[in-house]
Amino acid sequence: MSNDVMIYANDLSKSFGSFRALDKINFEVSRGEIVGFLGPNGAGKSTTMRILTCFISPTGGTARVNGHDVFDEPLKVRESLGYLPQRAPLYLEMSVLEYLRFAADLRHLDADTFRKRAKSVVEVCGLAQVLGKEIRYLSHGYRQRVGLAQALIHDPPILILDEPTSDLDPNEKAEFLDYLKQIGQERTVMLSTTSPRSRRRARGPSSSRAAASWPTGRSTRSARRAGASATSSPSRSRPRPRPTAGAAPRRRRARSRTRSASLPA
Ligand SMILES: Nc1ncnc2c1ncn2[C@@H]1O[C@H](COP(=O)(O)OP(=O)(O)O)[C@@H](O)[C@H]1O
Ligand SMILES: [Mg+2]
Repeated sequence: MSNDVMIYANDLSKSFGSFRALDKINFEVSRGEIVGFLGPNGAGKSTTMRILTCFISPTGGTARVNGHDVFDEPLKVRESLGYLPQRAPLYLEMSVLEYLRFAADLRHLDADTFRKRAKSVVEVCGLAQVLGKEIRYLSHGYRQRVGLAQALIHDPPILILDEPTSDLDPNEKAEFLDYLKQIGQERTVMLSTTSPRSRRRARGPSSSRAAASWPTGRSTRSARRAGASATSSPSRSRPRPRPTAGAAPRRRRARSRTRSASLPA
């Protein structure tokens, strides 16, 4: 395997009990590529990404990230990547800055590094205007940008983004992709999306062949699914409400919605 292969999957399989969600998929993503991972709902995109990010283990095959095996070196794998799950794990009662600090603490960044990285991700994700706002008051577009910022806080060489634009309106989607284009100039990015064609007829093996490149304007290609289960899951085809972390929202006075916040000097 060449040094330029940043994500590698060989005969990767995953069964949940007797149900085979992934059946020997094979692909490689090289350094500097932005790759779209396409397939109908239920095809196994999230399952693949959860294996690559060490949230679940495969039942067969091999996966390596930045040269590290997901079984043997899960910590090295996690250090190498930033992950934005399909439902961004946001704490809605935190302000954007508090949340970024929290994400940095999880990654054991020291105060100096946090200062530098926070400055950079706030700029690259366009968050300066909302740093002091509680996440619960942000639009979906901004929330996704916050999710992207937490994935970038430790400056990983690889980003794995699970349907990052699926709940966004067309303007928010375009904006998000612009930010991603800039971020992808220095990183390897794998992002999943459900192709419109397969959404309409997400059943049977033929629909599972749908693959198209992500319109980013630089080196892009699609990771074609090879042999993954083509079962559709109608319940997943509609956007679900965003998760709300913690207690039910309390009624708040308007002035408490925005706290002034600035990056530490
Ligand atoms: N924890 C689980 N237990 C049982 N089945 C699961 C689990 N996670 C995913 N699946 C099933 O695996 C298949 C692939 O799911 P998923 O990876 O979420 O697909 P996609 O992200 O492409 O929509 C689906 O049929 C889904 O219902
Ligand atoms: Mg999914």
